[in-house]
Amino acid sequence: MMPDTLIGALRREAREVPNSGIVEVMEYGRGRDGLIALWAGEGDLPTPDFICEPAIASLRAGETFYTHQGGIPELRQALVRYHRRLYDRPFSPDQFFVTGSGMQAIQIAVQLVAGSGDEVVVPTPAWPNIMAALTVSGARPVEIGMRLGNDGWRLDLDDVFAACGPRTKAIFVNTPCNPTGWTATTDELSEILRFARERGLWIIADEVYARFYYKGARAPSFFDIAADDDRILYVNTFSKNWAMTGWRVGWMGAPPEIGNTIENLIQNSTSGVPVFTQRGAIAALDDGEPFMAEQLARARAGREIFCSVLEKSGAARFAWPEGAFYLFFGIDGEPDTARLGLKLVDEANIGLAPGPTFGAAGAGFMRICFGRQREGLEIAAERLMRWLGRRAEKGVAEGSDAAP
Ligand SMILES: Cc1ncc(COP(=O)(O)O)c(C=O)c1O
Repeated sequence: MMPDTLIGALRREAREVPNSGIVEVMEYGRGRDGLIALWAGEGDLPTPDFICEPAIASLRAGETFYTHQGGIPELRQALVRYHRRLYDRPFSPDQFFVTGSGMQAIQIAVQLVAGSGDEVVVPTPAWPNIMAALTVSGARPVEIGMRLGNDGWRLDLDDVFAACGPRTKAIFVNTPCNPTGWTATTDELSEILRFARERGLWIIADEVYARFYYKGARAPSFFDIAADDDRILYVNTFSKNWAMTGWRVGWMGAPPEIGNTIENLIQNSTSGVPVFTQRGAIAALDDGEPFMAEQLARARAGREIFCSVLEKSGAARFAWPEGAFYLFFGIDGEPDTARLGLKLVDEANIGLAPGPTFGAAGAGFMRICFGRQREGLEIAAERLMRWLGRRAEKGVAEGSDAAP
């Protein structure tokens, strides 16, 4: 029978991609006078000049043509230098593939290993685009809920392994994690790698927040323990470290043996990343350490500001995040956080992302992005504190509709 609506005539997998819960709050709060928006996963600084200049020069020099599908050789070399510095081990340019964003790196990773009828295990709360990329490909995300305990967010690896069945093709590991800040230890990564090797599973390692780590110089990585031919697809991006969210440049790390297939997938989607953005990306990798240090200092300060306020309030459930630049918290007596997001726009003039959009385990939580400049964060924290204070004064009962 012919479907009788245009939407009904679309591919089911496309239709089933959910609306973003973040966009719902953004639409609600758009245009509010003085609203401080901390719902998106980005900072408030424009890209620094030392990155913009080479991109502008590249455009002026006429670098406006199609280019290498896996990335220009100079950028792949810069990725080698960057990874050597960070992980203190050898790398080669044929391990790296330049993509049009970290999101595209995720899409390609998924296209490489999972399609219709396959399953990919995803610890949640997780960035919703990960689940969406799987759904679009026809694969099923199998959520494994992490839990917030006294020692922070924890992933039970036995739950992960028990969820891997005959249809499982990969385990998605985002560490440090958006939105919880949970960061896998080297032991946990080793356990996952051992299991994946045993079962012949792929690991999609999303390490885009590796530099935003509060317990050491960088987060533990699969690069610390894996061999070059392990079945690991690394996802990374220029967006977060160097304030380049609008540039849409990222990269993948993968075994060189599958490089040709990756380049074919890039060819048959975007056909490559604009050369001028790649010139800026080289500057970010080679000259970006001082800026990266400032980014980390900003995030550290933001983490301190919000965690202190929530700690003082005595009304919040949260753990100081180990990595990334988000605080994922619940407020006692506020189980409906989709509604709470709208309420905080109206009553505190701040915009936060509702937890349920990050998967079932995100119910009852909200996400604050604190990777931003101090001033705005302090004002937002003050507003949140006052809102919590007003709420406490009125003695809001559990789940009450009478919140101020
Ligand atoms: C966990 C995670 N992976 C990947 C990305 C992709 O970033 P982009 O597409 O801007 O490169 C993000 C962005 O928020 C993220 O949070």
